[in-house]
Amino acid sequence: MQKSEHLVLYRKYRPQRFSDVVGQDHIVNVLKNALRLERVSHAYIFSGTRGTGKTTLARLLAKAFNCEKRGVEGEPCNACDICREFSSGKAFDLVEIDAASNRGIDDIRELKEAVRFTPMRARRKVYIIDEVHMLTKEAFNALLKTLEEPPAHAMFIMATTELDRVPDTILSRSQSFEFRRISESVIREELLRVAKSEKYKIDAECITMLAFLADGSMRDAETMLGQVMDACPDSADKDVLTNLFGLPKIGQIHELLDSALRREPVRILDTLTQIRKDGIDPKILSRMLVHEARELFVSAYNPKDLERLQKELSESHSAFFVSHHTLPRKDIEQLLVKLLEAHNIGFRGTFPDLPLELALLALSEQEPQKTFEKPAFLK
Ligand SMILES: Nc1ncnc2c1ncn2[C@@H]1O[C@H](COP(=O)(O)OP(=O)(O)OP(=O)(O)O)[C@@H](O)[C@H]1O
Ligand SMILES: [Mg+2]
Ligand SMILES: [Zn+2]
Repeated sequence: MQKSEHLVLYRKYRPQRFSDVVGQDHIVNVLKNALRLERVSHAYIFSGTRGTGKTTLARLLAKAFNCEKRGVEGEPCNACDICREFSSGKAFDLVEIDAASNRGIDDIRELKEAVRFTPMRARRKVYIIDEVHMLTKEAFNALLKTLEEPPAHAMFIMATTELDRVPDTILSRSQSFEFRRISESVIREELLRVAKSEKYKIDAECITMLAFLADGSMRDAETMLGQVMDACPDSADKDVLTNLFGLPKIGQIHELLDSALRREPVRILDTLTQIRKDGIDPKILSRMLVHEARELFVSAYNPKDLERLQKELSESHSAFFVSHHTLPRKDIEQLLVKLLEAHNIGFRGTFPDLPLELALLALSEQEPQKTFEKPAFLK
């Protein structure tokens, strides 16, 4: 495979059947039912964060609705002429409009004109309007007219990452679905599947890390996996990821958490200085701190979580949880709360990592609830 092809893994793995879509069962089931009962509406709004399947499901719905041999489950056959045309992206009866670059009244007027014509081959001509929140007020008004009386042979699927910027008048004429962020464990499974089918060797811990970095977006996860495969065509380990994405080392994260719990401000400052020298992105640093602190918090409560971590992570990584989960829960909770507060302040301005530093230091002002032995791997 050519080098740059890895970057478009997300195109190669775009689901072609409803059963391949993950993490959005609440939407997939309703759509499949509507197809089965022939109750597919004329206007939909798909909203939610980036890379969660909005465009994917819009195209799937368009294809499945028009498929000539749709399965009882509502799945497209992926073999008929319609399916092939729709899958290739060349179907005359599938129009995709990017509202970010076609946001004016003239663009929508053109659409209104075009909508009058019947489809060439499909039952309904499908218009996917991406980033619909970008339309101007006038364009929305024009679109509204079309949505008020959509011709029987047309169907509109609007997608947006910012639902609150879509006027209520449009919303009330459409069936609305909110896409969920995809959970880390689901992303993990999916990445494992992709890596396997690409015959790519990557350890489970790296996959866990990518799933975390993807922050709910399947596309980001697949793009990052592609970047890793480009950088290291044979196999990848944790160091590759750390270098490629400018991540803090997990040891540094544990060092910070440990020194905060132990009330050792000098160690906190030394570690932060090193992290700054390494040019680490403060937002990723903060997310990793919150993430690890939360894992510690849950493992302090639930032995099953500790077991899970031991299974998912390398021994050196899970050693931190094994040695720290017996600390006073109040201390761990306080640490988590402070870190979360700092994270929510954001990372703008001249001193993006200062809130984090202050949060860690503030803890070291307080009396620890109990002293404890330093584990060997941190000595
Ligand atoms: N729910 C999902 N199940 C399986 N794969 C997914 C899912 N969501 C996204 N993907 C993967 O990510 C890629 C991009 O997804 P898609 O284009 O549907 O995202 P989107 O929600 O439209 O994002 P954006 O808001 O950025 O337009 C898909 O090609 C697919 O590989
Ligand atoms: Mg999209
Ligand atoms: Zn078909």
